[in-house]
Amino acid sequence: MERESFDLPEGFWLGTSLSAHQAEGGNFNTWTRWEELPGKIKNRDQSGDACRHWELFEDDFELLRWIGANTHRLSLEWSRLEPQPGQWSNEAIHRYRQMFESLRAKGIRPIACLFHFTLPIWFEDAGGFENEKGIEEFLKFVSRCQKEFGDLVSIWLTMNEPVVYALAAFGAGLTPPGKKDISLALQVVSNLFEAHGRAFAILKNANPSYQISLAHHMRILSPERRFWPLDFLFVKKADAIFNWSLLHFLNTGEVHFQVPGICDLKRRVPEAVGALDFLGINYYGRDYLSFTPLSEEKIKLNQTPNHLDVKTDMGWEIHPQGVDKILHGIKRYGFEKIPLVMTENGIADHDDDLRSQFIYEHFSNFLIGCKKYGLNAKGYLHWSLLDNFEWIDGFYPRFGLFEVDYKTQKRLPRKSAHYFRGIAEKKCVFKPIPG
Ligand code: BGC
Repeated sequence: MERESFDLPEGFWLGTSLSAHQAEGGNFNTWTRWEELPGKIKNRDQSGDACRHWELFEDDFELLRWIGANTHRLSLEWSRLEPQPGQWSNEAIHRYRQMFESLRAKGIRPIACLFHFTLPIWFEDAGGFENEKGIEEFLKFVSRCQKEFGDLVSIWLTMNEPVVYALAAFGAGLTPPGKKDISLALQVVSNLFEAHGRAFAILKNANPSYQISLAHHMRILSPERRFWPLDFLFVKKADAIFNWSLLHFLNTGEVHFQVPGICDLKRRVPEAVGALDFLGINYYGRDYLSFTPLSEEKIKLNQTPNHLDVKTDMGWEIHPQGVDKILHGIKRYGFEKIPLVMTENGIADHDDDLRSQFIYEHFSNFLIGCKKYGLNAKGYLHWSLLDNFEWIDGFYPRFGLFEVDYKTQKRLPRKSAHYFRGIAEKKCVFKPIPG
């Protein structure tokens, strides 16, 4: 019989992830402005009160304790902390300190992420990460956060998904500032990589015992048309940029984006070599890509293939086998000594029919794969603790272990919250009982 339970390694970080804008409510940033534009967000949803986590954090952290989490990742909302350039909000500083204190008092280690898709409007309007000045401004923010919170936080993520952010915001034009220029998008990726390397150095110099990384989104990319060579070639290029350019950068300090007819961009950031104490991986599944140079829409990304029997509520494929492939790739980059933390993994599943099995398959594949490839499995953080505002898809996707009733702001544990609690209690990932 196949093995059906897998012990968590000693000292494993088990918990959940959440981001400021998706949960806090009452934010005013680049996304708030974007949400007001017609046609940008499904059902014309606006983040608005979101989960009112800004007020209800204490109760939400009780939920974390109830599921047995020992780690929780959240993000610091720059636009709250520094609403105008150089003007810091004491109230926001105080509130985030309360959050970190509350987590610590419950025995939950906080992980603070310094940039999760949202930015102050003044920063974006001055060019944001499109230019060098933006990197400097971000580094000032990082440094100040270290001073304000560095006694309560010892694990940092400099940023969430730099490649996704840049491609969606500057390539596909789907998210703010909504530009459509692949060459600019890759320039922004490379600026963000540099920002990571330098932010790492700032935090490390402030306190060498900090654990610092970033959360990198990794996906399996497949050709849409199996017998169309251009799709294959395109997937190869996209995979190299999307999944592996960051690892190459962290190994060598070098970026080289070469896309024929679009850009040939090189950069060296010496301080970025080895700029990570662990690697944060966000994994959700697989996409299908097609490349048809003579058509109007040359590049197509399909996240909702028709051929599947089982899909998430957003139509995404469930592809736990991908975890093994990603780990295999990480091994090829020589990351054996770097602890790996799944910093996000989750599913939009309102009825919670699939979530426990989803967690089981991805989490166990993570533990099995790390063993198989001699990698160090250090943590698993589920996305997410609560249902929350899912960016351009608005509120309909339900990613929470706890359901949020947005009218009453009540939280209700789903079956999968009980399952997760079981994992924490038993200190092992086990096959959930169906039904
Ligand atoms: C992002 C989250 C998002 C999740 C689910 C991740 O790429 O970091 O903010 O909610 O995916 O789509």
